[in-house]
Amino acid sequence: MIYLDNAATSFPKPVEVYSEVLRCMETYAANPGRGSHDMAVEASFKIMDTRQELSELFNIPNLLDIIFTCNATQSLNIGIKGILKPGDHVISTTIEHNSVLRPLNYLSKKGVTFTLINVDENGYLNINNLKKEIRKTTKLIIVNHASNVLGTIQDIRTIGKIAKDAGIIFMVDAAQSAGVIPLDVLNDNIDILAFPGHKGLYGPQGTGGLYIKDTIELDSFIQGGTGSESSSMEQPIFLPDRFESGTLNTPGIAGLCVGIRFIRKVGIENIRKHENILVEYLLKELCKLSYVKIYGGCDYKNRGSVVSLTLDNVDVSEVGDFLNKKGIAVRTGFHCAPLIHQIIGTRRKGTVRISPGYFNTLEDIEELVIALNDIHEKRPFL
Ligand code: ALA
Repeated sequence: MIYLDNAATSFPKPVEVYSEVLRCMETYAANPGRGSHDMAVEASFKIMDTRQELSELFNIPNLLDIIFTCNATQSLNIGIKGILKPGDHVISTTIEHNSVLRPLNYLSKKGVTFTLINVDENGYLNINNLKKEIRKTTKLIIVNHASNVLGTIQDIRTIGKIAKDAGIIFMVDAAQSAGVIPLDVLNDNIDILAFPGHKGLYGPQGTGGLYIKDTIELDSFIQGGTGSESSSMEQPIFLPDRFESGTLNTPGIAGLCVGIRFIRKVGIENIRKHENILVEYLLKELCKLSYVKIYGGCDYKNRGSVVSLTLDNVDVSEVGDFLNKKGIAVRTGFHCAPLIHQIIGTRRKGTVRISPGYFNTLEDIEELVIALNDIHEKRPFL
């Protein structure tokens, strides 16, 4: 299979990720923080090593300010629902994923108000428009770093500075950027960073995390065993325990640790460079096809590794089925980001989304372009 669906989850993972998950399962997958025997201690160390890798990757000053979750959606929910109270106002954008839009919609029924700043048809946010929406009650700004529909990369550093100057908490959804586009919580002025483990960080599914700046007080919906202060019925208030009740996904986190080490060994700039080469080539080839409509513009440099397209007179699901039969995996339809589909005019059917990853080659892209051409030529017979 030529796998071009890395925006959904990365595949394959570096081989060392597979071996570490297996090694963990076979030799040290005891309960981290819940015992003093060697296996539990090894599991705890692995969890700590992973926090260390993450803290170095994202320039997080204190590794204990990182909590593990199952995915970016869970991280975003913990952040959004932990901060906002009735009467608070939040600013976000129309290019957000449902992992932000749905919690905001839910909270709006409980007295939270939100403003979504429009993006243009290439997915870019006008930062001046965002500034104008700041109110006295604005507690939080949430921005999607790289779009899962258009690949658009927002200028989070500037937005973070605006939030900082206004005393507003700045949260970044790094679902598509973590591991591919450099993130630096200090220089980018990020207070809360939500990221998946299973996409650009090459961990297994079921991994993700949230960085919470130490000055931010976040309510937690979860209480339970943490392996710490166990003689008390009070939930520990310190991080990460405050949010990490219950047994962690040690094998997944062990795999994530190795995934991050892979990124740091290869160099995030080299990963980005390779993905840029693939996207540049893809856009160049697609531009030659008159029957292909590309969404999000043709600038590959300021774009994550995501290209959405439609083919004239062919339903996106037919394109997906045809490609699947040819051994090419892409995602079609709506990509859980309903408002951006309205803006780009794909509200009814969605798009075909191509998301190459570090392990794809130019040959993979060539195969895809040949297959698209094939679909166009065979179109009446599909
Ligand atoms: N949010 C993921 C995607 O865009 C699952 O496919």
